[in-house]
Amino acid sequence: MGSLRKLQENWEGLAQADPLWAICTDPERRHHKWSEQQFFDTGRNEIARVLHYIASLGLPIDNTAIALDFGCGVGRLTRALAGHFHECWGVDISPTMIDMATDLHRDTSNCKFFLNEAADLHHFSDGFFGFIYTSIVLQHIEKRYAQAYLLELVRVLKSGGVFVFQVADRDNSGLIRRFRNVVGFRSKLERLLKRNKIQSRMEMHCIREREIRELLSKQDVRILDVKITNSTESSFGGDLRFLEQEPRRGYVSKQYCVVKMS
Ligand SMILES: C[S@@+](CC[C@H](N)C(=O)[O-])C[C@H]1O[C@@H](n2cnc3c(N)ncnc32)[C@H](O)[C@@H]1O
Repeated sequence: MGSLRKLQENWEGLAQADPLWAICTDPERRHHKWSEQQFFDTGRNEIARVLHYIASLGLPIDNTAIALDFGCGVGRLTRALAGHFHECWGVDISPTMIDMATDLHRDTSNCKFFLNEAADLHHFSDGFFGFIYTSIVLQHIEKRYAQAYLLELVRVLKSGGVFVFQVADRDNSGLIRRFRNVVGFRSKLERLLKRNKIQSRMEMHCIREREIRELLSKQDVRILDVKITNSTESSFGGDLRFLEQEPRRGYVSKQYCVVKMS
């Protein structure tokens, strides 16, 4: 079983090697080929799509609230969310990601970034955030920690607040391909890390929909909708799309839209 310390070391390695590509792994953008503008444009598009989707469910968004971006990386989505909320706070386990985010968004006064090395969110009080978003983060965290973070994210959400989160649901491949997926997903990153003499490993972890429903059934929240997304594609380039059906092979990604009851 891995530890949070190991997870942090992994993301530090990735952040130091090729941070934008470690986040959005479009093969064309490897070796520092993301331009900052294109990279942050993907965040703006993703948040516009998600907020449009939330509006389509008839859910009001409180723009005066503080939003949270959990696992913010270099602030691709934090910056975009800050354009729609009073403030957006980004939280990450990697000091290098947080330093980069702080530096890159110095000009955006309503973005704030926090390092969180703990398995909980004890720095934040109950019901503090009006909107919470996390994407391409929980899929890389071991299930027992990811489930604990989910409960913490529900705790820090205020009544009536909206929480949108993405997880890997399962790997739909056969056994041999499943093995190759794990190796393939890892080896791509391992090649990068080896070249930079960094020992690191990208992990994928799944939580099935019935487990998510079971976990949240004991909380004061309602799952309003579940969407299948393209977020688990190993070449995900930040172009979030909602899929009509699950991919027949590879990881299935699900995005949940949850509201906290009053
Ligand atoms: C693939 S990147 C996604 C970044 C951002 N969500 C985005 O879409 O641009 C995953 C991020 O999650 C962070 N992360 C991983 N485990 C974490 C944890 N336990 N707590 C907070 N952040 C974590 C990593 O450091 C990394 O910055």
